[in-house]
Order: sequence, then structure tokens, then C-alpha cells
Amino acid sequence: MNVSDPELHGRRPTTIGAVLHSAVAYDLTVWLATLGRDSAFRKEVLDLARVAPGESVLDVACGTGNLAIAAKERVGPTGTVYGVDASAEMIARATRKAARKGATVVFSHGIAQQLPFPDARMDLVLSTRAFHHLPTTGRAECIRDMHRVLRTGGRMLVVDFIKGAPRHGPLAHFHRHGSVRLEDVVSTAAEAGFRDIESGPLRARTCGYVLARA
Ligand SMILES: C[S@@+](CC[C@H](N)C(=O)[O-])C[C@H]1O[C@@H](n2cnc3c(N)ncnc32)[C@H](O)[C@@H]1O
Repeated sequence: MNVSDPELHGRRPTTIGAVLHSAVAYDLTVWLATLGRDSAFRKEVLDLARVAPGESVLDVACGTGNLAIAAKERVGPTGTVYGVDASAEMIARATRKAARKGATVVFSHGIAQQLPFPDARMDLVLSTRAFHHLPTTGRAECIRDMHRVLRTGGRMLVVDFIKGAPRHGPLAHFHRHGSVRLEDVVSTAAEAGFRDIESGPLRARTCGYVLARA
């Protein structure tokens, strides 16, 4: 997929966002910032999203694919997991990782503001630690497109660093840039047509979530 193709889904996003190209460095940074405990974060996210067998799940701005691969274990052989990232390098590493683990996850190069999927295709759309990489207009465009690809009643879960949250330990050292205001995500989700919107902090209170239904 050519992410600069203006014909893609009929709309051109205002700007793409902060795309990461060093996939190995990203995994190493996450490992150092979480002291190798990122699997606890993934478990908390997937529990919160209530991922169930047979579901169609999309991870937006999936990075090197760890969350999507963990989601595949939960949806099982009858479910399908997709991951999209604007970085070809991230997608290549995610694809290699999934193959190594024998996990069938469909990774593709694409942007969060123009998801390369038809309407009403997904049961769940996730995005973790990525909204702070998008410009403000891009966050709204992404939420609207998440709503478009969800079936009625499907769930959206956005998780990101919360503006103003205290940061301690290695995370404070490794992640000094970018955060979101959960209230802004909530109001944008409501404007996009989401309902039953809830939000709050994750256990490690540096990150928060917004969960809603299409
Ligand atoms: C901090 S990483 C988060 C990766 C992963 N979701 C995680 O939780 O580890 C942010 C990701 O957003 C991607 N990204 C930035 N702008 C994007 C956009 N407009 N569309 C899709 N991906 C984007 C980057 O390439 C990067 O992989």
C-alpha cells in the first residue's frame, strides 16, 4: 500500500504523524523502559478490551506487532487479527515476528487516518501508545475511521500516555515526549458517534484508556 496515495479511501489526511523507522531500536527501548515487563501491559489492554474467540481485531499503529500477536492467541483459529502501521520497517519486523511464532496475523502498511479496510468489518479496534504520534486533527480522523470500520456494537480501545501523569523510573527516562488528554479522546469519540464511553488510568498510571462502542 502506498500511504501517500491521495485516492486511498477518498480522503487525504492533513499530516501523517511521527512515523518510527527503527523497529529494532523501538523494541529495545520498550524493553528497557518497562524492564522487560511489557507483556503485563499487553495482558491488561487485552483484558480491558475483552477480546473473545472468533473476533475480528485491528491494531492501529501496531508497531512491531506484539499486541496483535498476543490478540491472535485470544481470538483463536476462528478469529482474525490485523495490524496496520505507517512504517514499512515496523510492519516488516511484525510480519517476521508473527511468522517465527507461527501466528497468523495480517500486517499491512497503512495510516491510522485512512484505515485500509471496508466499513463495518471489525469487532474491535485497538490502538496503544500511538495517538501521541498523531497530530490533533489526525487523532480525530483516526477515531472517525475506527468508527467506520467497526460493526455496530463493536468496541474501540485507545490507550496512551496521559498528559500530566507522574512518570517514574526507566519510563520517565525513555519516554519524555508526547501524551494525550483523555477528555479530548472522549469528546472526539462522542462526536464520531461512539457511545457507552468509559475512560480511566491503567494500573501503571502513566497510561490511560478510552473504551467505547460504535
Ligand atoms: C510508540 S509506537 C507504538 C507501537 C505499538 N502500538 C505499541 O504499543 O508498542 C507508535 C507507532 O505509531 C506509528 N505511526 C505514527 N503515525 C502513524 C500513522 N499516521 N498511521 C499509522 N501508524 C503511525 C509509528 O510508526 C509507530 O510504530
